[in-house]
Amino acid sequence: MALKGALWLMMLPLVVVVVIATNTNSVYQPCADSKIQRSDGFTFGIAFSSRDSFFFNQSLQLSPCDHRLSLSSSNSQLALFRPKVDEISLLTINTSSFFPDTYGGYMVAFAGRKYAARSPLAFVANSTYTVTSFTLVLEFQKGRLQNLYWKRDGCSSCKGNSNFVCLNKQDCAIRTSSCKGRGGAVDCSLGIQLAFSGTDKHLSVLNSWYEVENLRQYSLYGLYSNLRDSLTSQYNKFL
Ligand SMILES: *[C@@H]1O[C@H](CO)[C@@H](O)[C@H](O)[C@H]1NC(C)=O
Ligand SMILES: *[C@@H]1O[C@H](CO)[C@@H](O)[C@H](O)[C@H]1NC(C)=O
Ligand SMILES: *[C@@H]1O[C@H](CO)[C@@H](O)[C@H](O)[C@H]1NC(C)=O
Repeated sequence: MALKGALWLMMLPLVVVVVIATNTNSVYQPCADSKIQRSDGFTFGIAFSSRDSFFFNQSLQLSPCDHRLSLSSSNSQLALFRPKVDEISLLTINTSSFFPDTYGGYMVAFAGRKYAARSPLAFVANSTYTVTSFTLVLEFQKGRLQNLYWKRDGCSSCKGNSNFVCLNKQDCAIRTSSCKGRGGAVDCSLGIQLAFSGTDKHLSVLNSWYEVENLRQYSLYGLYSNLRDSLTSQYNKFL
């Protein structure tokens, strides 16, 4: 099974690899199980594809590691990340040569095999709108990933900013035609804020989630001064 996972991963083109870690976790493959402790690196993937390609038999959402989905033969892209557990991280996916809408426009975060976890689908982009900012929560129990989900703030970060449209009362979207390479001037690279919750294998509590909740009011992008310029000051300095 693990081999099969490795095979389809090799068949997908890689968008980006971010390695930030000192660790005791020797599992570097997203389609494999690991048990983490605080400060380990943890590998997970984000797959981009169409809504339908994440469902088996059009009804059951499976992990992208599950070969029944045959994501490798559909129009999809994979991004791999290895953030440090319980550290506030902002992942970025540069869209200067990768347009998410040309790969179906949806993404799913995932890791694990026997203990497979996958997030619900998140809309990223179509030819009209692009969502550039996300918060992903990785929830562990005793060091094992249990759950991945997208945390939304009901568009509070873009309220009153005319450059954004609030989609489905949850996502701040920019017009795709405003993006670089699409006729506009905005860098529409994706920013994915990570938060960790639950417990590690020694039952230590992961609390970066707590920090994210408290920092949200100031906007997490403020923490990343280098990205602030490239990703956010372009939006009329709404911070
Ligand atoms: C797919 O869904 C159809 C209709 O819901 C069902 O009859 C069929 O058994 C399912 N196939 C598999 C392989 O689960
Ligand atoms: C994305 O890549 C382009 C070209 O290399 C670069 O100019 C741009 O600053 C990058 N954007 C981010 C957010 O890193
Ligand atoms: C793009 O997505 C938005 C929000 O989901 C939807 O309202 C719109 O109809 C979509 N446009 C196209 C061209 O698919």
